[in-house]
Amino acid sequence: MPSRAEIEKVVLTGGAGYIGSHVAVALLEAGRDVLIVDNFCNSHPEAVVRIGELAPGNLELLERDLADPAHKDDIVKAVCDFGAQGAVHLAGLKAVGESVAEPARYYRNNLGATLTLIEALNAAAAKTIVFSSSATVYGERNKNPVTEAGATGPTNPYGRTKLFIEDILKDVAAANSAWRAVNLRYFNPVGAHASGRIGEDPGDIPNNLFPFIAQVAVGRRDKLRVFGDDYPTRDGTGVRDYIHVSDLAHGHLSALDWLAARQKGGAIDVNLGTGVGYSVLEAVAAFKRASNRDIPYEIAPRRTGDIAEIYADAGLAKKLFGWRAEKTLDDMCADHWRWQRMNPDGYRG
Ligand code: NAD
Ligand code: UD1
Repeated sequence: MPSRAEIEKVVLTGGAGYIGSHVAVALLEAGRDVLIVDNFCNSHPEAVVRIGELAPGNLELLERDLADPAHKDDIVKAVCDFGAQGAVHLAGLKAVGESVAEPARYYRNNLGATLTLIEALNAAAAKTIVFSSSATVYGERNKNPVTEAGATGPTNPYGRTKLFIEDILKDVAAANSAWRAVNLRYFNPVGAHASGRIGEDPGDIPNNLFPFIAQVAVGRRDKLRVFGDDYPTRDGTGVRDYIHVSDLAHGHLSALDWLAARQKGGAIDVNLGTGVGYSVLEAVAAFKRASNRDIPYEIAPRRTGDIAEIYADAGLAKKLFGWRAEKTLDDMCADHWRWQRMNPDGYRG
């Protein structure tokens, strides 16, 4: 057996964000040195302070825009000086509706950030990357549970940036066998760190179900609108594969360790989900139990672009990385609620 080298020095783009802050804690707890590159365009510096409190270790921050050509030289130099051995790449814009309205900004930001990071990793001879892709890359007509061989066909510019970046990493790995990449296709990340100190902090009206429910429970919003109750699902509402953000964070560490031990180059797509789907009404009921608060809702028309049901086949991550999600829907709700209650106005509070 080859000796199992670890990637000790990890560049973490988007490390101040919702998922990134949990990945930072997981990496630091595993004894890795972390360089966060973030421009705080959708996050708050306080998150980085709290990461340091939760997981003391070697944490550096570079506040730069990965997509701005004027920042490229600084970023390349910082990644080299840090002695990076690999990267976890989460920096990106992620609002579906905004991507439809401003596609060029999404392509520039998400693709531009990736190209700068590739250049920096090339310069540092650190050709290993774990990328945050999304289940949104799958087309609408796959059978559940969806495997990585499922047909792709994103329906909006945001989703297309994810698929393009997956393809860019495959091209880069095909051109140079020293490159190793995993495209992690996340299902629906929810919940928060069990301490209640870091979590999702949507600046605006939340687009996603869990942050919306949490804001209703805490009294910031009157009621939830359930988008459609006439889908061919068990209660008529949409079914998704919700995954605890801490499980997801550990999935990144597992993917990185798997890449480190891998002799072969190449890029591979891997789902990160639980393999179980829950409906909107089941999620509401679970959150009600966890929070002991009423969650008023009304049935509203379907949201354009939504599909009835999607959940992961999570077998490949188990087979390759030995990783599986461990936390239940009740854990996700309890932790999401703790974060919301302790920080009703997010990091600004
Ligand atoms: P987030 O917005 O909380 O975090 C993204 C971080 O990237 C933010 O801190 C932001 O400031 C930073 N960033 C964005 N563009 C940047 C740039 N050009 N330069 C430097 N920093 C930049 O989002 P998140 O929910 O933590 O998601 C992280 C990644 O995972 C994103 O790429 C997202 O598309 C992907 N993803 C998220 C979900 C989800 O439901 N949250 C699902 C699937 C995939
Ligand atoms: C959405 C994004 C997807 C992204 C994912 C991240 C769209 C069309 N898709 O997916 O690109 O990767 O988030 O987690 O935005 N719901 C309500 N009321 C609400 C909000 C949501 O009923 O106020 C329902 C939705 O109709 C859906 C379920 O809740 O059935 C989950 O919605 P959401 O959290 O937005 O996630 P996705 O639609 O899966």
